[in-house]
Parts: sequence; structure tokens; C-alpha cells
Amino acid sequence: MNEQSNPTFTQQPKSNKVRVWDTFIRVFHWSLVALVIISYLSGEFEFEIHSYSGYAIFTLVCLRILWGFVGSRYARFKSFVYSPSNVMAYLKSMAKGNPKRFLGHNPAGGMMILALLTVLGTTTLSGMKLYGIEEGEGPFANEYSISIVNQAYADSGKEDHDKEKVHKDGVDEEAEEFWEEVHETSINLLLLLILLHVLGVVIASKQHKENLISAMVTGDKPAIK
Ligand code: HEM
Ligand code: HEM
Repeated sequence: MNEQSNPTFTQQPKSNKVRVWDTFIRVFHWSLVALVIISYLSGEFEFEIHSYSGYAIFTLVCLRILWGFVGSRYARFKSFVYSPSNVMAYLKSMAKGNPKRFLGHNPAGGMMILALLTVLGTTTLSGMKLYGIEEGEGPFANEYSISIVNQAYADSGKEDHDKEKVHKDGVDEEAEEFWEEVHETSINLLLLLILLHVLGVVIASKQHKENLISAMVTGDKPAIK
């Protein structure tokens, strides 16, 4: 029987619940979800919104990494980073339908979090590089002022290979193509990871007959008996 549909379960004393996700983790998670949706939808046209939501994501990821060292018990990396062999063993037990229950992230979930944070980092940083190249804005803008010099060379008619890679607006086309590729690949990878993440959450919720989504809202989980 499901925990929500079991009246005895909901009437259990509050002491049977354990605070697993602290306030920071919960605010971090749901703001991240909202901001990733905003960034994704604004990528092709709304540049101001796109860059600000992207910076906000980058800031959240940096804060989460810091929180992984100084945060509460289940937020710390050392509580959910396992060796690849442990992750594989856990995935096998999931496939067999008898995985162990963890209060914090399970080994597969922990690995997924590291992957999500890494890909969010590459998506936002590659976006910032692209913003610097295309718009001359953002933290990497100064690196690309060099392209104006390239443009001057190109315009002077000097035989220079730079001529081929400098766009008529002074944009370094090679760098633009490269970072565009990195940004797009990271976005696709991010979408794939999000899909697997949500699938993992749904499967784990069913296997342990607990609602992991509401735990990410309230912060509490039933204690392990
Ligand atoms: C943009 C999409 C999403 C991203 C980038 C994302 C990212 C993350 C990250 C980084 C964590 C780790 C939390 C921490 O320890 O800091 C996490 C955990 C979690 N997320 Fe998401 N998430 C997304 C969407 C969702 C959605 C749609 C749901 C609900 C279906 C969800 C449910 C959860 C749950 C339940 C956990 C805790 C898992 C556990 O109990 O181990 N996430 N997510
Ligand atoms: C997780 C965060 C982000 C997501 C999900 C995201 C998503 C997207 C999407 C869907 C596009 C359209 C791709 C296309 O036209 O094929 C795009 C383009 C772009 N993004 Fe991001 N982005 C993120 C972060 C950033 C950041 C932080 C910046 C810079 C401050 C940025 C700068 C750009 C630029 C300059 C383009 C235009 C590329 C072009 O010329 O087509 N992005 N992004």
C-alpha cells in the first residue's frame, strides 16, 4: 500500500520523520528547475532573460558545490558520492527490483547529481563564452576584443589566415562555431540527464513506496526502520 493511501502511516508521530533536505537544498532544487525551463525557452530570442537566468543557474551551481562541503548531513558530497562499482551494484539491484533504501541520495542518484552539476556548469560557461563572442557582453567579453584587432588586419588587405575566420562584424567565427557546438551539445546532454533523473526519481519512489517528490518539498522522509 502506498504511504499516502495508508491512514496509519499519515497518523504516525512526527518523530518518525527525519529532516533530510535542508532549506537551502529545497530552494536550490525548485529554483533550479524554474530557471532551467526559463533558460531553455528564452535561448533563441529573449537574450536579456536568457543571460540573467543563466547567470542565476551558474550562481546556484557554485553555491551547491560549496554546500556540498559545509551543508547539512545529507547535502554533503561525502554522504552521496560512491565508487563506480557501488553505483553499478546499486543499478543492478534496482533492475532486479530489490534496491536498498537510502535516506539521502542513493549511489545512482548521487552519481546523477554530479553529472547534472557538471553539465549545468558547461552549459552556463559555454553560454557565457558565446555571449562574449557574439554580443561582446558578459564575463568573457574582454577576451574577444582581440577580434576587433583581427578585423583591422583583415580589412587592411594583409594576406592573413585570420581573414577567413573573422566575420564582417569582427566576430571570431571559428570560436563562435566551437562554443556554439559546446553550448548545444551540453544542452542536449542536460535534457537527457533531466529525463533520466526524473525517471530515476519515479522508479525509486515506486520501489520504496515513498514520495521522493514531496520529500523534496517538505524536506522530510520517513525514518528507516
Ligand atoms: C530542470 C530539471 C531538473 C534539474 C536540473 C534537477 C536537478 C536536481 C539536483 C541537482 C538534485 C540534487 C539535490 C541536491 O542534493 O542538491 C535533484 C534532486 C531531486 N530532484 Fe531534481 N531536477 C530537475 C527536475 C526535477 C523534477 C521535475 C522532479 C520531480 C519529478 C525532481 C525531483 C527531484 C527529487 C525527488 C530529488 C531528490 C532525489 C533523492 O531523493 O535522492 N527533479 N534534482
Ligand atoms: C542551463 C542554462 C542554459 C540553457 C538551458 C541554455 C539554452 C539555450 C538554448 C536552448 C539556446 C538556443 C540554441 C539554438 O539556437 O540552437 C541557447 C542559445 C544561446 N545561449 Fe544559452 N542556455 C543556458 C545558459 C546560457 C548562458 C549563461 C549564456 C550567457 C550568459 C547563454 C548564452 C547563449 C547564447 C549567446 C546563445 C545564442 C546562440 C546562437 O547564436 O544561436 N546561455 N541557449
